[in-house]
Amino acid sequence: MSIQRRSVLVTGGAGYIGSHLVGLLLNHGYGVRVLDNLTFGGQGLLSYLTHAQFEFQHGDLRKEEDVHAAISGIDSIVHLAAIVGDPACRKEPDLAREVNLTASEMLCSIAIQSGVKRFVFASTCSNYGRMDTSDSFVDETSPLRPVSLYAELKVGFEEYLLKAHSAGFTPTVLRFATAYGLSPRPRFDLTVNEFTRELTLSRRLEVYGRQFWRPYTHARDLAAACVTVLETETEKVAGQAFNIGANDENYQKESLVAMIVRELDADGDNVVYVQRDEDPRDYRVNFDKARRLLGFELSRSVNDGIREIIGAIRSGIIVDPDSRLYRNA
Ligand SMILES: NC(=O)c1ccc[n+]([C@@H]2O[C@H](COP(=O)([O-])OP(=O)(O)OC[C@H]3O[C@@H](n4cnc5c(N)ncnc54)[C@H](O)[C@@H]3O)[C@@H](O)[C@H]2O)c1
Repeated sequence: MSIQRRSVLVTGGAGYIGSHLVGLLLNHGYGVRVLDNLTFGGQGLLSYLTHAQFEFQHGDLRKEEDVHAAISGIDSIVHLAAIVGDPACRKEPDLAREVNLTASEMLCSIAIQSGVKRFVFASTCSNYGRMDTSDSFVDETSPLRPVSLYAELKVGFEEYLLKAHSAGFTPTVLRFATAYGLSPRPRFDLTVNEFTRELTLSRRLEVYGRQFWRPYTHARDLAAACVTVLETETEKVAGQAFNIGANDENYQKESLVAMIVRELDADGDNVVYVQRDEDPRDYRVNFDKARRLLGFELSRSVNDGIREIIGAIRSGIIVDPDSRLYRNA
């Protein structure tokens, strides 16, 4: 196919957030090319293959020739491809460094040489690491205190990308809240989805860090934020970082459990709270900047996501919620 003028490259477009984003971009009239090495298969892209403005390139972000081919004829990039999450980065640290930092830097520099105008990067609120006190909120001006290799690499590429800002090149960093909900490529290794699956299937659920705060956002809303940035005037988004989520969607893990138990009308007897020190991430995030400057609002809440997951498992639409394809490590 020949890609039309408003053409976007989505790296990692076959993934959990990417497979939502591709659909939203096509609906907004963009031509979309996906570069992905299909680590978790390509199921998430099936419904787009018949779309005239969609193109798939099977390739590896680490290979210069694949990146050159992917960028040809493109005006904007949404960079999602990564080794995603602390466990996956811990398991393959060298690969994580190569993909999340070295290859991402190469993508950025080839993009600039090729005249790409906009570059949106999927970063994470995990970069904040820990709040000063448990009743405070972090915002975009707060110090970044990564406590994992995953977050360290995200912070590293954020710095690189924002320094590349110039009159002709508009980079924007989006620090996503933790995602939940269904997607064409489901994930069941994320807190809300995993807890909901386990309790829907009446399994024993071990929860650690019960009082830890974290913000949560539906995968589709995270994808929608990328479209919003592409459609916002350059002056508002160039060289900027935005937290993506909503102030009232910060939850402690024990509240998530209570919401799921309520939706299932269960007694919660199979939930066990355990003490473990290995995940010191505890942060409540303020999202006013994206609302104020981009007019960005969430369309769904955690309760909606819980209902979606329960429905998809109970109805049999998700045939094997334990599939290897639905988790990243
Ligand atoms: N899911 C979340 O809760 C969350 C939260 C904050 C930030 N993010 C960020 O959003 C982005 C998307 O996350 P996701 O949950 O959709 O993850 P995902 O793992 O579902 O998607 C990542 C995609 O990247 C592809 N990929 C990995 N290595 C590649 C390589 N070398 N070459 C080409 N493709 C490659 C994978 O095949 C996969 O399709 C990531 O950058 C992630 O760090 C996600």
